[in-house]
Amino acid sequence: MGDYRLLAKAAPVSCFGSTELNTVIEDMRDTMDSLNGAGLAAPQIGVSLRVLIFGVHNNPRYPDAEDVLQTVLINPEIEVLEEAIEHGWEGCLSLPGLRGYVPRFKRIRYIGFDEHGVHIEREAEGFHARVVQHEYDHLNGILYPMRMNDMSRFGFEEVLNL
Ligand code: NI
Repeated sequence: MGDYRLLAKAAPVSCFGSTELNTVIEDMRDTMDSLNGAGLAAPQIGVSLRVLIFGVHNNPRYPDAEDVLQTVLINPEIEVLEEAIEHGWEGCLSLPGLRGYVPRFKRIRYIGFDEHGVHIEREAEGFHARVVQHEYDHLNGILYPMRMNDMSRFGFEEVLNL
């Protein structure tokens, strides 16, 4: 947090299947896996492209979260399916050690492409919808504290009573 690249609007990917794109995705996967992230956006590794990865399975940072399919999502768009808002605790690999209680839309549809350029369209709710909205925000220079409306619920995970 504080790096100007996390505040920029990332550019769309125009070419699928390139070595450069595959290398970015590999680097993202290594970073996410080594830090037990639920998701990662390319700007978090200093690459200003609209590329997200996410997925949750037995994640020690999110022990209560339901599984989310491992996904590469490129040039994503989000449609809100219900205006209902849900609050939940989030962390971010760009804000190590911190957690915040963040409002998100409960139910969304997201569309985009995988790394081969194959169209993806899914509906998501709960933690899955939260992860996608969090990662999508990174592509528009938004970090989760900017979404919070109660800063008393922002702090270090080792002292927060989650
Ligand atoms: Ni994040």
